Amino acid sequence: MHILKNILAIATVIAISCSNMVQAQTKTSDNIKSVIVYFTHSGNTELAAKQIAEVTEAKMIRLLPEQSYSSEDVDWTNEQSRCTQEHLNQSLRPAIKPVDIDFAKADTVFIGFPIWWHEEPAVIRTFLDNYGEQLKGKVILPFCTSYESPMSEADATLKKGYPALKIRKGLRLPAKPEEIKKWIKQ
Ligand SMILES: Cc1cc2nc3c(=O)[nH]c(=O)nc-3n(C[C@H](O)[C@H](O)[C@H](O)COP(=O)(O)O)c2cc1C
Repeated sequence: MHILKNILAIATVIAISCSNMVQAQTKTSDNIKSVIVYFTHSGNTELAAKQIAEVTEAKMIRLLPEQSYSSEDVDWTNEQSRCTQEHLNQSLRPAIKPVDIDFAKADTVFIGFPIWWHEEPAVIRTFLDNYGEQLKGKVILPFCTSYESPMSEADATLKKGYPALKIRKGLRLPAKPEEIKKWIKQ
């Protein structure tokens, strides 16, 4: 009985240390080597970025268009609105403010956005065009928020538009921390 108790105690200590080790490894490596770049108009994608930051402790960087989007700009019911025009004319690239980050130190880059017109907003395409060279060879994990559209739609447009980049399967948030961890390890 005494021996059994000792074995159980040792097994418990080993189990606790192992789970701590796994968590520490995730946090340490992601902390140094990951960065979260995101665009948000009304705040949902910022909350999503924070969910990822809680799991990874990665630094968050918000993408800002040079000319911010007004409520008229994001009126998808108006064919002449800025967002509708940027969807209809896929070559449009709204200017963005420079991103203050050295991507050379990162090996994983999370890229978050709201789904606009079943795809990534044009601002994201500007970012990928401007920083594509620096992003080559990095693991890119896209994520989105949306009213109802699945991430798979933006997965398809991103892969088609940027075949030279290592873009992994994206995730629609909010999601449970366990789901986020599983997605990161894909
Ligand atoms: C111009 C525009 C287009 C949108 N298109 C879609 C869409 O195609 N599918 C969808 O589910 N949601 C769509 N939405 C809803 C947004 O994806 C959703 O509200 C998102 O969470 C907003 O994120 P944000 O708060 O970070 O800006 C659209 C919103 C806007 C403003």
